[in-house]
Amino acid sequence: MDFGKTPDGTAVDLYVLANGKITARVMTHGAILTGLDVPDRSGKAGDVVLGFDSLQGYLAGHPYFGATVGRVANRIGGARFSLDGKDYKLAANNGPNTLHGGLQGFDKVVWKAEEVSGSAGPAVKFTYLSKDGEEGFPGNLSVAVTYTLIADGIRLDYSATTDRATPINLTNHSYFNLAGPDSGTILDHRLMLAADRYTPGDAGMIPTGKVEPVKGTPLDFTTPTPIGARIGQIPGDPAKGDPGGYDHNFVLPPTETKEPQLAATVEEPTTGRVMTVYTTEPGIQFYTGNFLDGSNKGKGGVVYKKHQAFCLETQHFPDSVNRPEFPTTILKPGETYRSTTTYRFSTTK
Ligand code: BGC
Repeated sequence: MDFGKTPDGTAVDLYVLANGKITARVMTHGAILTGLDVPDRSGKAGDVVLGFDSLQGYLAGHPYFGATVGRVANRIGGARFSLDGKDYKLAANNGPNTLHGGLQGFDKVVWKAEEVSGSAGPAVKFTYLSKDGEEGFPGNLSVAVTYTLIADGIRLDYSATTDRATPINLTNHSYFNLAGPDSGTILDHRLMLAADRYTPGDAGMIPTGKVEPVKGTPLDFTTPTPIGARIGQIPGDPAKGDPGGYDHNFVLPPTETKEPQLAATVEEPTTGRVMTVYTTEPGIQFYTGNFLDGSNKGKGGVVYKKHQAFCLETQHFPDSVNRPEFPTTILKPGETYRSTTTYRFSTTK
């Protein structure tokens, strides 16, 4: 359905995927998940992601609500990298570093879309050609992300090919609040992260290269714990108290299979909604909306404030292109990049 036009006149379409229980809304601008209605424990469906009611809200600027992020999600230190003996300079859009693909990342372009519904459920496939040199990256990159509504949630399948070696790291940047985007902070949500290690970063959140255990720190979510329980005690909090909160890459257990593995479970006590995240990625950024500062008026006119949502961005580790010891993010010609993340929903009694 028609969802308006970008300032240069490009038409933007919104697709609604529904199965009688869950409804997902996705649009061609940024291949963004704009809405996700899931039942609470009484069976009543409600939206669990932050965003806007109209395209205008998204065009006015926002911190990646629901967006498909690329070519390289998360940070690249010093906004530069070398590959095959060549130096590449990128836009520094986060202090001295590159964040989420640069000035005009995949979240700000209009994708092509086609309905590809099949036996797994109703689905939309978004495709985009990121040209050689776009945002400073090498190679023409053909990228696709398919949103499939499955019986109890939504599955995101990414793929890409290139004609020159390039770093790639795709994620979805949905901001979840399982009680609804208008229901205050997520500090009472209980989180379990299937990660016993994380990658500490410097003041600009660029990994030091170390991989540290979470045990004995406020980053230990290996058993379900309210997000707010230790949020003021994060060691080396990149932004201690100001704004403060979690914004860390967690290391998921290595796996031999290419099947998505359990990464996280989040439970919201009042509605009973439970979200479980599965992914093929080696890492997950847990971010508590620290930089939501009230400047975005979202769905139904609700002002989005600090800690009003959490993100669980499945990914390769930040700055991997400059860290040969991390799992590689380099895609070469002839190879196909693939990544799958599933968000599944249930309720507690
Ligand atoms: C980053 C945060 C950033 C947020 C929104 C997250 O992936 O780690 O530092 O503020 O995205 O841009």
